[in-house]
Amino acid sequence: MGRNEVQQAIVRSMVTMGAALLAATSALAQNSATATSPDGDVQVSVSIDGDGRAAYAVNRKGKAILAPSKLGFLLTDAVKIDRRLSITGQETRDFDENWTQPWGEWKTIRNRYRELKVHFKETTALARVFSVTFRLYDDGVGFRYEFPEQPNLAHANIADELTEFAFASDGIAWWKPAFLWNREEYLYNKTPLSAVSNADTPITIKLADGTHVALHEAALVDYSGMAVSRTEGTTLRAALHPGAGEPKVQKKGAWTTPWRSLIIADDAAGVYHSHLMLNLNEPNKLGDVSWIKPGKFAGVWWNMIKGEWSWARGPKHGATNENVKRYIDFASANKIPHLLVEGWNIGWDGDWFGNGYDMDFAKPTEDFDVDMLVAYGKKKGVRLIGHHETGGAATHYEKQFDTAFKFAADHDYMVVKTGYVTDAGQMEREDADGKKYREWHQGQWMVNHQLRVVETAARYKIGIDSHEPVKGTGLHRTYPNWVAREGMRGMEYNAWPGKNPPEHEANVVFTRMLEGPMDFTPGILSLKGSDDSDLLSTIAKQLALYVVIYSPVQMVADTPENYAKYPGPLKFIRDVPTDWQETRVLNAEIGDFVTIARKERGGENWYIGAVGDEEARTLSFKLDFLNPGTSYVAEIYRDGDEADYRTEKRHSIVIESKTLRNTDSLTLQVAPGGGFAIRLVPAKGK
Ligand code: NOJ
Ligand code: CA
Repeated sequence: MGRNEVQQAIVRSMVTMGAALLAATSALAQNSATATSPDGDVQVSVSIDGDGRAAYAVNRKGKAILAPSKLGFLLTDAVKIDRRLSITGQETRDFDENWTQPWGEWKTIRNRYRELKVHFKETTALARVFSVTFRLYDDGVGFRYEFPEQPNLAHANIADELTEFAFASDGIAWWKPAFLWNREEYLYNKTPLSAVSNADTPITIKLADGTHVALHEAALVDYSGMAVSRTEGTTLRAALHPGAGEPKVQKKGAWTTPWRSLIIADDAAGVYHSHLMLNLNEPNKLGDVSWIKPGKFAGVWWNMIKGEWSWARGPKHGATNENVKRYIDFASANKIPHLLVEGWNIGWDGDWFGNGYDMDFAKPTEDFDVDMLVAYGKKKGVRLIGHHETGGAATHYEKQFDTAFKFAADHDYMVVKTGYVTDAGQMEREDADGKKYREWHQGQWMVNHQLRVVETAARYKIGIDSHEPVKGTGLHRTYPNWVAREGMRGMEYNAWPGKNPPEHEANVVFTRMLEGPMDFTPGILSLKGSDDSDLLSTIAKQLALYVVIYSPVQMVADTPENYAKYPGPLKFIRDVPTDWQETRVLNAEIGDFVTIARKERGGENWYIGAVGDEEARTLSFKLDFLNPGTSYVAEIYRDGDEADYRTEKRHSIVIESKTLRNTDSLTLQVAPGGGFAIRLVPAKGK
């Protein structure tokens, strides 16, 4: 055996010895470290090979998930951090606490982990030091690099990370491409893991034995977003999003990376149930955020997306006093507390795509009388949501931060929706010296910009719903005013040619939704996009999306005129809340189907939503989560027997009522392109 193999054998034998021998580990072998999750299922082993390269491996229930995967960095102005490392120490600690989400899919979250901190030092004259902290959860692991301030790395100019994720076996991967022009707005690919190229995270993988793994990151702050590139076989390597030039990330003094995270579960439901990403984030920094009240919003929007109205002034202008008043009336009549208005401000008249230099976020157009409309809304219980479309002119936006958010606060907005419509790598940054740069949506500068927006908004007690955003990494735990974001192909793609396919949402739940709330903009009951084109959906599926796709601010996206044609289905939209006590995935296969049950916060009602794909199928599930001994009236909105997204029967829906208890099961048909939605209300007097 070579030195390397001996070390690996030591690691392997330590792995089988388990957590009880942790204390002995550090004394026995300085060049390795290991720890297990609180329940003993997930195990991390750190080792150094014969060339002094550091690696970590991850096992679950005795099965290798990640084979030894390298750690390190490429720097633009110094020798890489990779070889000639030694382990100089290690510590473990246990942590267990419950915390409460001000809003969310679950009210109470348990954060229980074992932490292993491993200290590394170069054996060369540079003698640079860093630590890697692993947090082992029963359902996965997060780890991050931590660099103390040090003379030989006063400035870290990072060209890329050398962090690997060397999957021990192949599997099926659901992933979307990274670094392409349309940012995060691509459909998910389903390929063998061994056929992935450049993928943004989260990437979700089903291994041959059914184990599901989701690779992502948590707490992305002052760093660039992490995508992954496949190097060979089933090995992925971190590939940082670029900025305006090299290096991709600049750090100085003491610094850490975001957490690199792996959720590992028996099935797709287990992946969704994980709280790992939120737990890896810092607690709420904003204190009392009771000024954020989850709720639905209507919008002067779908007619613009369809091309019938314009954001720009002129004969087709959407955001007129008359239209906005009509939409306020609709929202009020349906107990919808907010109304988004786009195209309300000066700046949209020219070519705003990729060019937002005319945008003024405190200057309404002459046909949008903001004071009158805010007062009208107040009488009717509807607040406006302002829209800040930057057209990618991010510095131009920053120059207006204070006037823009003061305007929003003065007009009682709870939320501002931001937008950055420009191609990847075309974000406009201007420095104090007047020099201009082109940034990427997920590069370090934009990561910092997005947080500046959220922090500024918080000072004005305003929430942010960001479009064309930086991906979600759980920062809404730390900044609960970051209520939602887009960052995927949402409903708007159904207005245009090349619509989202029926399986889209069953993919999105187990990929994009692992990032946190999405402003998907559901509820197009007309099932009509631009030029009278048909959505690839049934009407029941549109209702299901209110349960399946989570956001504390959920859009009621169709027009009042269209909703007037569907009073029956509209009742579900009126009833469904946007804040939850508890959430359970009842059944799922990624890309095929998913059924989710959620209990409303501060109430006893449950809501269930299911979406399928292009196939007809039957979904069955138990109602054992309901309160024992209580009878519930179930209002069921299901696909009609002939419903089919390919025919005019896409509008066929059955609305029926049943009495159910927690000992019952339900079996429902889902049409091609279909779904169902159920509201369960405790029966009176039972
Ligand atoms: C793209 C966003 O996704 C959409 O919601 C918005 O209406 C347009 N940009 C214009 O800002
Ligand atoms: Ca978009």
